[in-house]
Amino acid sequence: MKILQNVSLKPFTTFQLGGRAEYFAAVSTKDELTDAVRFSRQAGIPYMVLGGGSNLLVSDDGYQGLIIRNQIKGVSRYEKGAHIFLGVGAGESWDDLVAYTVKQNLHGIENLSGIPGSVGATPIQNVGAYGQEVQNTISWVEVFNPATMEFELLTNRQCEFRYRDSVFKSGSGKGLIVTEVGFKLAKEGVPNISYRDLKQHFNEQDIRPTLQSVRDAVLVIRAGKFPDLNQHGCGGSFFKNPIISRNQLRRLQDVYPDIPHYSQAHETYKVPLAWVLEHAVPWKGVRRKHVGVSAQQPLILVHYGGGNARDMKRLADDIAHSVRSELNILITPEICFVGNF
Ligand code: EPU
Repeated sequence: MKILQNVSLKPFTTFQLGGRAEYFAAVSTKDELTDAVRFSRQAGIPYMVLGGGSNLLVSDDGYQGLIIRNQIKGVSRYEKGAHIFLGVGAGESWDDLVAYTVKQNLHGIENLSGIPGSVGATPIQNVGAYGQEVQNTISWVEVFNPATMEFELLTNRQCEFRYRDSVFKSGSGKGLIVTEVGFKLAKEGVPNISYRDLKQHFNEQDIRPTLQSVRDAVLVIRAGKFPDLNQHGCGGSFFKNPIISRNQLRRLQDVYPDIPHYSQAHETYKVPLAWVLEHAVPWKGVRRKHVGVSAQQPLILVHYGGGNARDMKRLADDIAHSVRSELNILITPEICFVGNF
């Protein structure tokens, strides 16, 4: 493992934004990961682990410390009853894994097709799309615990999965580094096409869905909504969908009777922010030179090239501020911020 210095982080993030890392190490084995953490301890500098870089906005000033790029690969497989268990290295590409499971006729993550990033990032934010969340197939997560310098296994329950959230994002799990994710996939099943866009797609086509046709459908739907990462930068949904109280929903419905909402635990409701940004606090399609709000899906902020992270952050702050002042709804970013803003 080489420790490099002064490395631009732009090419390692799908936003294609941000400054340089003071130190940078790509690790492909657990030993290398341990060595990298040890290096940062000895040098007295902080470190941060980077996966596929698809959920990060790196400051223009970069990162003072060591960026560890997790490239631990490998897939192990075993069969038990009606299931196949896959232990997948955190540095594997998520979408390559989905494609593999679809080819192998294994059910459970097909709706999560086309999502950029690495396998190790998926439990952290409990990646979800088109009616599936990874929490439904994750059996275990192997982590490196820097406090003990040991590897540990967490069960699904210990991961404390919630909407776009897990133990790894806060509290006791915050410093843990994901090294392998164990998936429990079913050998048989019926694809879930209940999500609105999928239902529409299959009704129009009137065919019986297979794992492959669900994957293809998701890829088509996503292509219509997400910028092509070869052309523009983006980091998926910039914000989480807000979860509001019944009273808040009632007040909104007085003004916007058609506002979509999905019932959650404890009499709360999830509201699609994309709807809000199209109909209530219009930001859809707004462009500020090098950055803007997608005209296809306003939850996605786009870097059109030549921009900087500060402009992107300012755009996000302005959106959050206007949603708060006009609707009294607090929205929180899904994107992680790296460095000083
Ligand atoms: N909508 C509009 N206008 C638009 C787009 C959407 O009004 O331009 C409304 C529609 O009512 C639509 C609803 O918003 O039914 C939801 O839109 P969509 O299905 O595109 O999903 P989303 O809630 O905006 C979430 C995830 C995405 C995931 C999609 C599909 C979050 C933060 N985002 O977006 O995940 O791909 O559902 O399941 O939960 C990500 O996390 O990075 C991400 C892309």
